Amino acid sequence: MLLVYPNSLKNEGERKKVNKSEIENRIEQLKKERNAVIIAHNYQIGEVQDVADFLGDSLQLSQEAAKLEEEVIVFCGVHFMAETAAILSPDKTILMPDIDAGCPMADMITASELRDWKKQYPGRKVVCYVNTSAEVKAECDICCTSSNAVQVVKAVEGNEILFVPDKNLAAYVARFTKKKIIPWDGYCYVHNNIRLRHVREKKEQFPEAEVWVHPECRPEVIDMADKVLSTGKMIKEAKITTKADILIGTESGIIYRMKKENPDKNFHPIKELTHCSNMKKINVRKALASLEDMKYKVDVPQEISQRAKGAIERMVRL
Ligand code: 13P
Ligand code: SF4
Repeated sequence: MLLVYPNSLKNEGERKKVNKSEIENRIEQLKKERNAVIIAHNYQIGEVQDVADFLGDSLQLSQEAAKLEEEVIVFCGVHFMAETAAILSPDKTILMPDIDAGCPMADMITASELRDWKKQYPGRKVVCYVNTSAEVKAECDICCTSSNAVQVVKAVEGNEILFVPDKNLAAYVARFTKKKIIPWDGYCYVHNNIRLRHVREKKEQFPEAEVWVHPECRPEVIDMADKVLSTGKMIKEAKITTKADILIGTESGIIYRMKKENPDKNFHPIKELTHCSNMKKINVRKALASLEDMKYKVDVPQEISQRAKGAIERMVRL
């Protein structure tokens, strides 16, 4: 199809009149003009996944962002993810199609709250989940993601570790170490809302199905799981498994990708409408507007970026 999207369509009202394939064509053209790529988290809506050059979990996306040669990265995910990319790739322009797409769990701890908390536990190392702001990362010894949290905690010096902000991930990690993990009282509302009764109900409906959940889920939900996996590991496992039915305990956006890549298998959400409203703020029109107007730029002040980078790099080096 020929490109019919005129350059002059600069405002959102005009863009709304343009159909999806025209938007996709315009995005392709702008990516070339701007030397840009689109990367998207596994929870993004289908239409965003379809225009992305790279899809992945939080860790994969930041690592990919650092490797890319293009100058501009349109980051379709939540704010802490784009910030991590900006920290690891300070010479690139990192854009977010919706600057208000934050992570409520990351907002459950501020740098000043963490500084006060640390004073109560002198000498303890602090592990921060990647779902934290750059300011919080700057106060921590080492970062972790859902795919390497156990490995990171085991590697950290000391028998007592402070862990921020996810108490559910902290409880999951505690299953694999003798170290005492002192958690911050944060959680992801999306995963915390997946309850034991949802797993039981779905298991009744699909008795042969395997249960895969994200480590941000409640401990009693994790107890019911056959596999506890980051979103990136779920995607890999979906290709390998010989099971026909899998019950998924994480944000439902991932099911779009799983079905697309594995049309012969059935992926059922453990709880219907498990949606992260922030992940859903981005759509193709906003991705187009982001490229069109080079907005919204994510910058991390250098002093914070350097300290936060230390915590991220210590994780990457493991
Ligand atoms: P992953 O690192 O597994 O992609 O998880 C990110 C996240 O925000 C989970 O809610
Ligand atoms: Fe944050 Fe939860 Fe949304 Fe992930 S799913 S971005 S942890 S609120």
